Amino acid sequence: GARSLEETLERLVADVPDFPEPGVGFKDITPLLADPEGFAQVVAALATPGRDADGAVAVTKVLGMESRGFILGAPAALHLGVGFVPVRKAGKLPRETHAVAYSLEYGEATLEIHTDAVAPGERVLVIDDVLATGGTAAATIELVERCGGIVVGVSVLLELAFLDPRAKLPNTPVHTLLTN
Ligand code: PRP
Ligand code: MG
Repeated sequence: GARSLEETLERLVADVPDFPEPGVGFKDITPLLADPEGFAQVVAALATPGRDADGAVAVTKVLGMESRGFILGAPAALHLGVGFVPVRKAGKLPRETHAVAYSLEYGEATLEIHTDAVAPGERVLVIDDVLATGGTAAATIELVERCGGIVVGVSVLLELAFLDPRAKLPNTPVHTLLTN
């Protein structure tokens, strides 16, 4: 029979102790990605905030952040039947971009979007694998706002709640499948 989402995540997301350093626990999603039924179930769950209460698709794009957000965002866009927009690290997109800098644990990074990737007034869903400090998601929301678009939600597989990422996303609904 069909497994619940909770069972799928329990079965296919591996807890790896002491990675990348001693005392840190890592959630490895590669077994999930290798399982077509589990992967499809998780992609459908991540896409849920892209629908209204009746189940009708309520966004016209899904955005995913380079690089791990591409793995989950692109199939979620196809699942909803909408387009996919890659939000990329600096210097990768060939045409005119908006750029937003954000802080990392050590130093800064920049994310970019093509200026015409999201139209004014367009409603989009943002998907990534992990919400840690929230910096990546907050920068992506700012990029959408620069385009004049509206982020209806941020959807992630794993939220590191102890880092309080939602403090950086005060105006955006956050949908999380697994919390650490
Ligand atoms: C990781 C992860 C998220 C981000 C979360 O990406 O995939 O995008 O960190 O952290 P934050 O909430 O503190 O911003 P990373 O920048 O390591 O790059 P990658 O996706 O290319 O592996
Ligand atoms: Mg990432």
